[in-house]
Amino acid sequence: MRQTASACAKVILCGEHAVVYGQPAIALPLSDVRVTATAEPAETLTFVLQDLNETFDLTQTHPITELAMRVCEALNVPPPPIAVHLSSQIPIASGLGSGAAIATAVARLLCQVLERPADPEFINTLVYESEKRFHGTPSGIDNTVIVYETPIYFVRDKPIERLTLIGSYTLLIGDTGVRAPTHIPVGDVRRLYEAEPDRIGPVIEAIGKISRDIRHLLLGGDASAIGRLMTDNHRLLQTLTVSSSELDSLVMAALKAGALGAKMSGGGRGGNMIALVTPQTRAAVKDTLLQAGAVHVLETTLQGHEFSSP
Ligand code: PMV
Repeated sequence: MRQTASACAKVILCGEHAVVYGQPAIALPLSDVRVTATAEPAETLTFVLQDLNETFDLTQTHPITELAMRVCEALNVPPPPIAVHLSSQIPIASGLGSGAAIATAVARLLCQVLERPADPEFINTLVYESEKRFHGTPSGIDNTVIVYETPIYFVRDKPIERLTLIGSYTLLIGDTGVRAPTHIPVGDVRRLYEAEPDRIGPVIEAIGKISRDIRHLLLGGDASAIGRLMTDNHRLLQTLTVSSSELDSLVMAALKAGALGAKMSGGGRGGNMIALVTPQTRAAVKDTLLQAGAVHVLETTLQGHEFSSP
């Protein structure tokens, strides 16, 4: 029987970049958009990236082979003789967590093949190590939301807090089609912060306050107020220089078409933006995003619990 494991994509609702400096951020899993890893018998541990038409084994230095070695070392077993076929629905370098999702799917599959429990804490630690290879100084938000596959309110080095909310919030996720590796804007923000701490410090704190406020508003179901804060968050990210003309024009287009709020999401300079919509504005905002140059538009609904009185 062929063994498979998978992992979801993610989107950041608010707080990216500031989260690297200890401020809170909110991230959501995209359970319908996934990476799948499938094991087939082989002579040695090999990886086949189906979408990129690339094959490599443990003799090659690659973040995935390094992760596989770390999994085997941690479990104290030799690498299993399998070919891991990876197929992904997540666009790379677009702020949807493709690297962390690939690492999560691979680590889960190896645990399965090696008949060891895929304990989330164990997987999360290994995937975080792998993220360091991509980003340099990752906050840990991507691996955490992807491994636990639940909406999270995330503060670096603090215990995981699952987000509680009331109501239902639909986000459209518009892809600029521009691929932008996260480590570049993350490094630029660091340099900017070091050069101008008095100007950039308050921007980072203001983003953190937005995440705290949105967390609070999610408990009251005030979608309009959440939308306004998302747009404020976008402006602050512009000040950090991590937006781009493509992201700005999709954000503007979504707002003009009636979105309650819109912002870039993730590392920036390309990748995806998000827009908060209502059932009434959803179709118009989606059409407008496509007309304004989005290469595709995904949708996700954050569903809260309705508390009924006893
Ligand atoms: O992987 P991305 O592009 O979604 O970016 C992750 C979020 C950042 O805050 C920009 C970086 C980090 O490590 O938290």
